Amino acid sequence: MTDTPRFHQHYQSQATQHPEQMDAFWMPFSANRQFKQKPRLLASAEGMYYKTTDGREILDGTGGLWCCNAGHGRRRIIDAVQQQIATLDFAPTFQMGHPLPFILAERLAEIAPAGLNKVFFTNSGSESVDTALKIAIAYHRARGEGQRTRLIGREKGYHGVGFGGISVGGLPNNRKWYGPGLPGVDHLRHTLDIGRNGFNRGLPQHGLELAEDLERLVALHDASTIAAVIIEPISGSAGVILPPEGYLKRIREICDKYGILLIFDEVITGYGRVGKAFAAQRFGVTPDLITTAKGLSNGSVPMGAVFVRDRVHEAFMSGPEHMIDLFHGYTYSGHPLACAAALATLDIYAEENLFEKAIELESYWEDGLHALKGLPNVVDIRNFGLIGAIELASRQGQPGSRAYDVFSNCFHEKDALIRVTGDVIALSPPLILEKQHIDALFSRIADAIRETD
Ligand SMILES: Cc1ncc(COP(=O)(O)O)c(C=O)c1O
Repeated sequence: MTDTPRFHQHYQSQATQHPEQMDAFWMPFSANRQFKQKPRLLASAEGMYYKTTDGREILDGTGGLWCCNAGHGRRRIIDAVQQQIATLDFAPTFQMGHPLPFILAERLAEIAPAGLNKVFFTNSGSESVDTALKIAIAYHRARGEGQRTRLIGREKGYHGVGFGGISVGGLPNNRKWYGPGLPGVDHLRHTLDIGRNGFNRGLPQHGLELAEDLERLVALHDASTIAAVIIEPISGSAGVILPPEGYLKRIREICDKYGILLIFDEVITGYGRVGKAFAAQRFGVTPDLITTAKGLSNGSVPMGAVFVRDRVHEAFMSGPEHMIDLFHGYTYSGHPLACAAALATLDIYAEENLFEKAIELESYWEDGLHALKGLPNVVDIRNFGLIGAIELASRQGQPGSRAYDVFSNCFHEKDALIRVTGDVIALSPPLILEKQHIDALFSRIADAIRETD
């Protein structure tokens, strides 16, 4: 205990006094050299706000990175993690156990879509995706259809950074550096169509026919070779791409017709982002597996979870009881600290009705967002649940630079944290936000857009 103040004083003061010592940390998904010339450093966080190392309060328009759905610095989560580390710091879950992951899995099954009652724990969204892909392929093998190994993703999809995830993913920069990826992968077309759906509120009206792409791929490869389709119900990282009305339902129907498993990657849409625990429930379409992470533990301790349909799980339970049923797992699957954080997070979501609150605020959010139409260079606005996107026209030959300038202006001059991907501003605030935060966020973003050429 006596070490606590020492840690805080030593490292926190070092962090605030010597932020120029930045060489060693190779930052992920970052322009390292540019960042280190003009850093953006966060020191603490509470509620809807971060505080920078130079003491400014920054309004959080991104829930950290789509993860802090219950806002920051939640006492209940802090207490749970502190108590847990003092009680049981680590316990293996390979052929061993401790109570928390069992309790947490039951709690998660209660909020999952009906029939998805089995939960496999991971430490991130990327691990959840690779876990789900492996379960899908192994499921078919366990049923005697071992030739079903092909995986279908979608253009512009993001499924994390593992080799499985980038293979089914559809963002060129995440793929092209890393060789051919998994064999036997194909992609559906994406559903972004600004020409027909520009400035639409909520789900796009046009594009249902794109679901028939799956029929095309089945005709090409034959259903007997296809294990699973993985899609994000709403793509986040590619700049918020929404499913056209009826699209997900049609994908489900085609999967059912051919015995193909459907995986929803809900790493960003899970845990209330669209007003229900999962987008699957909001859209009324139930996949066979759901991948999650982020909001599961409110971003506080790394954790992911894969939800598995009972009948998929059942296929693994037919061998001898003494045999391991799934040759897969992580040292930290069901880590005590992550479980403690997730249980406290689920308590907060339930007690504060945060998922319902997202629905209540949705139209106010939508109105505020769409009021930005007409600002310079704004070429599209998209929204669903408490997700928003503002797409800017790209500068000639410099894609992404205009949105980056808006982002930098927001952070340094408007005290607002937004996220940009390409020339799209993507917003995903903590679900605890109130109307005044929505007003402040959009007015700051509007000013930053006006000030950017
Ligand atoms: C849909 C989706 N899948 C997977 C991931 C990867 O999650 P992680 O960064 O936790 O590995 C993300 C991250 O943003 C995501 O948006």
